[in-house]
Amino acid sequence: MKSIHQAVVGALGLTLAVSALANPTDDAMHKLATESGCFACHSIEPGKAGPDGLKPVGPSWKEVAAQYAGKPGAQEFLTRIVLEGSSPYASHWQGKVSGLAMPPNAVAITEGNARMLVSWILSLKK
Ligand code: HEC
Repeated sequence: MKSIHQAVVGALGLTLAVSALANPTDDAMHKLATESGCFACHSIEPGKAGPDGLKPVGPSWKEVAAQYAGKPGAQEFLTRIVLEGSSPYASHWQGKVSGLAMPPNAVAITEGNARMLVSWILSLKK
C-alpha cells in the first residue's frame, strides 16, 4: 500500500513541477529572482528610490515590460543581456537609473531560468 501511495504522490509532484514550468507563478518567479540576486538592483514596481534616495540602480521590471512591449525578439535579446551583462557604453536606461551597466548574471542563474524569468518580466502589466 505504501508504495502505491508514494507512486501517486510522486506522479502528482511531477505534474506540479511540469505545470510550474509551463506557466510559472508569481511566487515562483519572486523566489527565483530573490535567489538569483536580481532584487539587489531591481524592483518590480516603478517609483522606488535607490540607495541614498537617488535613482534606482536598475530599471523596475514593469518599466522594462512597457519599454519592450510588442518588440519582436525582446525575449531572446533580454535573456542574453541578463546572462552576459550590458555595456556601460551603450546604456539602454541612461539617465533613468543610477547603475551604469548590469554585470553578467550567468554565475547566478542558469540560461533556462533566465529565459523563464525574462518571459515573466515581459508579461508584467503596469
Ligand atoms: C548589480 C546590479 C544588478 C543586478 C544584480 C541585476 N541587474 Fe538587471 N540591470 C541593472 C542595470 C544597471 C540595468 C540597466 C542597464 C542599461 O542601462 O542598459 C539593468 C537592466 C536589466 C534589464 C533590461 C535590459 C535592457 O537592456 O533594457 C533586465 C531585463 C534585467 N536587468 C533583468 C535582471 C535579472 C533577471 C537579474 C537577476 C538574474 C538582474 N537584472 C540583476 C543592474 C542589475
